Amino acid sequence: MSGNQGASIFDLDSPQLIIDLDILDKNLGTITNGLNGKKLRVHFKSLKCGGLVKYLMDKGCNSFLCAKLNEAEVLADVGVKNILIANQIVGDLKIARVDSLKTKANVKICIDCEEHLLALTRFAQKFNTSFDVLAEVDIGMNRCGTLPGKPTLELVKKIVVSKNIRFSGLQGYDGHLQLMLDRTEKTKKAFEGLASLVDTRRMIEKEGIAVPLVTTAGTGTWEFAVQAEGIDEIQPGSFLLMDCIYNEVRPEFHPSLTVLSTVISRRPGLYVLDAGSKAISKDFGMPMVKGKPQEKIFKLAEEHTRVECGNPLPEIGDKREVVTAHCCATMNLHRNVVAARNGKVVDIWPIEASGRYD
Ligand SMILES: Cc1ncc(COP(=O)(O)O)c(C=O)c1O
Repeated sequence: MSGNQGASIFDLDSPQLIIDLDILDKNLGTITNGLNGKKLRVHFKSLKCGGLVKYLMDKGCNSFLCAKLNEAEVLADVGVKNILIANQIVGDLKIARVDSLKTKANVKICIDCEEHLLALTRFAQKFNTSFDVLAEVDIGMNRCGTLPGKPTLELVKKIVVSKNIRFSGLQGYDGHLQLMLDRTEKTKKAFEGLASLVDTRRMIEKEGIAVPLVTTAGTGTWEFAVQAEGIDEIQPGSFLLMDCIYNEVRPEFHPSLTVLSTVISRRPGLYVLDAGSKAISKDFGMPMVKGKPQEKIFKLAEEHTRVECGNPLPEIGDKREVVTAHCCATMNLHRNVVAARNGKVVDIWPIEASGRYD
């Protein structure tokens, strides 16, 4: 709790990360209304904040995925029982952390080769434990994962005969398509990727092996995955907080995340804000000033943002909300976030997983 409950966000000191809960609720409603019978698993790498997860759990979101073990630990600590680490876990130190998480939650991890499988089996037998694994399938992103079809089937056959290992399904993420602007090309490529994932599922089932879960897609491709037969679940994250870059390809979701900033200097045609690239991620492009299309951010230095603007110039001390160009990376830059409704502070939440990569 902040002690600032009920205060206007514009009376807070800056820079301050803010989540507008009304916008976040609408984004959640848009996706839950469009699920078409599929399940929703929310990606925590975009959120990194336990308070926000508890808020979402109250609204019925119960399964989450994450990219890193420290994120899984935050999820388990706030009471999430259904966690997928959509990543490869390498080394006994990390495998031991997965194992200890299982006292709090059902945790699944991804593998894409026999070395991963052997390491998990060895650990499981040595410590009399077990692991739930998904085979990660590369559906075109060219990152982790076995190729669809036979290479994945071969790995799955090895998983099902491994001691102390349960085969929990397939995970395939079309990251290369998320921000693609050309809709025709994107639709074609998305359905091709989904078909390769579903065909792999059918190939495995033909061998008499049950596939309990097939999970895929992100904010940029969710609409295709919900139409595909043979897909059980979508796994987007950014749709809740959003940013101006994702908003270009996904206008059905609106930015709920902003960085409150103060005008600290001005001259004709230009003003300067007190938050720079250490508070506002610019790795995907230029951020925007919320509700002021005529004020254009053109340069971020570490602690300053320069904004081109006509008349009237803002006053020194005026506040602006900056819509970031990458919500996930911006959450990673801050220690806490103010949850607000109607411009008033509701709560302040620590961002437990920010600045962590383990
Ligand atoms: C495995 C995986 N699934 C899903 C997503 C989707 O995330 P978003 O909705 O934020 O694009 C990502 C993003 O990096 C991912 O790595």
